Amino acid sequence: MMEPLTPVALVDDDKDLRRATAQTLELAGFTVSAFAGAKAALAELTPDFAGAVVTDIRMPEIDGLQLFDMLKERDADLPVILVTGHGDIPMAVQAIQNGAYDFIAKPFAADRLIQSVHRASEKRRLVMENRALRRAAEDAQDSLPLIGQTPAMENLRNILRHIADTDVDVLVAGETGSGKEVVAQLLHQWSRRRKGNFVALNCGALPETVIESELFGHEAGAFTGAQKRRMGRIEHASGGTLFLDEIESMPVATQVKMLRVLEMREITPLGTNEVRPVDLRVVAAAKIDLGDPEARGDFREDLYYRLNVVTISIPPLRERRDDVPLLFTHFAARAAARFHRDVPALSQSLRRHLSSHTWPGNVRELSHFAERVVLGLEGGGEKAISLPSASTTLPEKLEQYEAEIIREALAANDGDVRRTIEALGIPRKTFYDKLQRHGINRTGYAARK
Ligand SMILES: Nc1ncnc2c1ncn2[C@@H]1O[C@H](COP(=O)(O)OP(=O)(O)OP(=O)(O)O)[C@@H](O)[C@H]1O
Ligand SMILES: [Mg+2]
Repeated sequence: MMEPLTPVALVDDDKDLRRATAQTLELAGFTVSAFAGAKAALAELTPDFAGAVVTDIRMPEIDGLQLFDMLKERDADLPVILVTGHGDIPMAVQAIQNGAYDFIAKPFAADRLIQSVHRASEKRRLVMENRALRRAAEDAQDSLPLIGQTPAMENLRNILRHIADTDVDVLVAGETGSGKEVVAQLLHQWSRRRKGNFVALNCGALPETVIESELFGHEAGAFTGAQKRRMGRIEHASGGTLFLDEIESMPVATQVKMLRVLEMREITPLGTNEVRPVDLRVVAAAKIDLGDPEARGDFREDLYYRLNVVTISIPPLRERRDDVPLLFTHFAARAAARFHRDVPALSQSLRRHLSSHTWPGNVRELSHFAERVVLGLEGGGEKAISLPSASTTLPEKLEQYEAEIIREALAANDGDVRRTIEALGIPRKTFYDKLQRHGINRTGYAARK
């Protein structure tokens, strides 16, 4: 499928040939800018020219090969197709070795030219998309640690902004790797509490015997081995934020005490009767749905209700797929800087893998994948695309395939609904239903200016 209005720059000093070639390309759907010489073309072609360049080699003043060299200076990724006369073929071959996209020997069949320009344009389109993504990822890096442009992520950021600077306790729910800790940190950073400590405590990782003294602190001699007085994590978080990670794994006895802390905003260190006030904002994270009695198990209902003043649910990555390329680009750029490697281009097969994989490990899995790609351990080649996750059923695979086809059609039509619907051959209503079901954001495909 071809993008509408794909531009092509055509450079040829021969007026008749120029006109005929321009017409051939226009009939094939390209938008042609024709130039009578290299100078005129150089004046027009900026480094972000979105199409391919077709140039004759034999021209007065600056010839096609010199033009190619100059364009390469400006933008090494600009595809240049050389049109050669009989004697120029060895030179053209040399030019290909220097990075020219293709050469076509005169006289040529219209199809041969059109095909080459098609492929060059497609390559150019990917380059331009990669650049736009990279730019967006850089912008994202500058401004926000929570990357994503899907409505789900916009919405999430919106909620965070609204509640960050209140003291309300928050329960963050989401699958592994979906960004619960990122959200907790943002709630801290976007509040006045950022001057205080952000104290993270993994309730699942601490042995039951240690967790209470960790949380509440103890006096010297409170128990065997407690030689010195020690401040607990809760007190340490006073004035800041206490992040209780994997709250679903908190031992039941501790849950009772935690409930008291949440209600009274005070603690009693082990080995004393002294009550100390604490000024806390508690953010708890859970991988399971604590609202579901089945899933909750022996997690106390009263603690759940106490924590559940505000619940923020982070959707799994498979429900906000349109963010995958952006996140990938961000992680790849970061990994490339860290490992001193080149930033990999988003090839077709890599894109296919990104859009078909279900990402059970969510954003963390994607960031590790990006690192492996940067290190060359995963090319996004055959291996990467022929890895449908073993757990997907046929209906799931069909769903993914359908979503991918819709995304491709949107991309090919710059997000234009009428043309996309035509290309897909489905009724408008069905189209919108499908967009919603797959969580596809049409506006993300609008032509980039
Ligand atoms: N929207 C996002 N933008 C950028 N990075 C993200 C985003 N979401 C998650 N990450 C990154 O992905 C990784 C996993 O995120 P995080 O640790 O917050 O997940 P989690 O939900 O706490 O997972 P777990 O339940 O396994 O602890 C981190 O490196 C984090 O920085
Ligand atoms: Mg976590």
